[in-house]
Amino acid sequence: MNKNFKQVVFSGVQPTGSLHLGNYLGAIKNFVELQKKMECIYCIVDLHAITVFQNPKELKKNILETTAEFIACGLDFKKSIIFNQSSVSGHAELAWIFNCISRIGWMNRMTQFKEKAGSNKENASVGLYVYPSLMAADILLYKATHVPVGDDQKQHLELVRNIAQKFNNDFKSSNFFPIPEPLIQKKLSRVMSLRDGKKKMSKSEESDYSRINLQDSEDEIRKKIKKAKTDSSPIPGTIEELKDRPEALNLLSIYSFVINSTIEKTLNTMKGREFSKFKNDLSDALVATICPIGKKIKNLKNDQSYLLKILHEGTERANSIAEKNLDKVKEIMGFVLH
Ligand code: TYM
Repeated sequence: MNKNFKQVVFSGVQPTGSLHLGNYLGAIKNFVELQKKMECIYCIVDLHAITVFQNPKELKKNILETTAEFIACGLDFKKSIIFNQSSVSGHAELAWIFNCISRIGWMNRMTQFKEKAGSNKENASVGLYVYPSLMAADILLYKATHVPVGDDQKQHLELVRNIAQKFNNDFKSSNFFPIPEPLIQKKLSRVMSLRDGKKKMSKSEESDYSRINLQDSEDEIRKKIKKAKTDSSPIPGTIEELKDRPEALNLLSIYSFVINSTIEKTLNTMKGREFSKFKNDLSDALVATICPIGKKIKNLKNDQSYLLKILHEGTERANSIAEKNLDKVKEIMGFVLH
């Protein structure tokens, strides 16, 4: 479908607090892999963050911290473009245009809005409601063809594809925007909460025991895994037997993914073992993966000028692509450029 387009990867992460294992395994690990073979643009989506109130001091700290987390996880700012969304004005401009392309009915179907707005929808920001228009702008401003995300962003991506398609149809420019493909990890598309295997691991979950943060210490990781909810049965031999055991499935999936194996192999070797024992292996694997990243984040966080330089360079590179594409959009739509 997108074979006439240059292959470009785009993805974004909200600077709303420390990143967790779900962000890392579901998305960022894939960002790192993709930069080896494609042109990649990774954005710290601060305009998305303000769809719910952000304390200005915290926001600033979080934007720099997310930059440090990107680098510590292995993103290479010389290769990939790394920048913060609000510094390229084209995102907000194109989002407005897409607000006029999107249909209210499309927005009304978004389950994430319903979840985030909760029972008091009247009091949610308008920005939270049109959040997917801004996502469409992020991706299409760079004519990105591939979007690595966790499973929770699938519905938003579907809407982005509808917006691209409708723009192309409305303005009779069938090949202007690519129809971006979501890239979702097959083996682990959604990391679940350590307290409830039916809920996704999330920054907004009240209990810190529900998640492993990239900056957690070895002690914290071990304590959280020890306390992670499981059931009383031992590890089974087949995936089918995990169907009604969401917490067990989650821990075994995390372990298999982290050690670069498959859940089938893990079940094969661990069948019959008690979870209390398995949890030691899981903690060891997580400590080996997460703690080196956490150490790097802590060092980088102190070097503000280095982080600002990364964002500044990335912004310049992003802006030069964005400006050209936005001018073209305006021309197609009949705006007067001068
Ligand atoms: P955000 O900041 O909530 O999450 C960043 C990335 O992490 C993934 N993720 C997870 N993956 C697996 N299991 C989990 N428990 C888990 N929690 C989070 C998310 O799917 C995401 O890929 N709307 C986006 C940010 C965004 C964006 C974009 C993404 C804005 N514009 C354009 C792609 C393209 C979000 O809130 O991600």
